[in-house]
Amino acid sequence: MAKEKNLEDLFYDTLKDIYYAERQIVKALPKMARGAQSAELKAAFEKHREETEGHVERLQQVFELIGKRAQGKTCEAIQGILAEGEEILEEFKGTQAVDAGLISAAQAVEHYEMARYGTLKTWAQMLGHKEAVALLNQTLQEEGKTDQSLSKLATTVVNQKAAA
Ligand SMILES: [Fe+2]
Repeated sequence: MAKEKNLEDLFYDTLKDIYYAERQIVKALPKMARGAQSAELKAAFEKHREETEGHVERLQQVFELIGKRAQGKTCEAIQGILAEGEEILEEFKGTQAVDAGLISAAQAVEHYEMARYGTLKTWAQMLGHKEAVALLNQTLQEEGKTDQSLSKLATTVVNQKAAA
């Protein structure tokens, strides 16, 4: 009989999911930056692309800490969220509303990531992977800050223009 799967297996599977997602996000952010109208939003996307490269590296460190190969696993959730973002970009390209749409897409991405990292951090705590907890928490904090700065941009620059 096959060995019953445990929380450690679930932790590894979920790491693979977010590793796949982060690498897709690295590729999507330059497109979002190009599509953004406001200089502030472009800068925010570019800054977050650099941070996201750091998130990929942190995940590689977590894989190493648990003695497992860094490997992605196709995540249909992030594919769907990113596809919606591309659709918004196509349909609203060059309009006053495009930035509001891009922010909404980016916040959906951030919230997906926050959900994943929150769970992974809790599981790492339960499994006694102390160093992994610290790494996962650093990324969780950065995703949260990005989400907050996007909210700020939405309520200041962007929504005023979209409503004009
Ligand atoms: Fe990230």
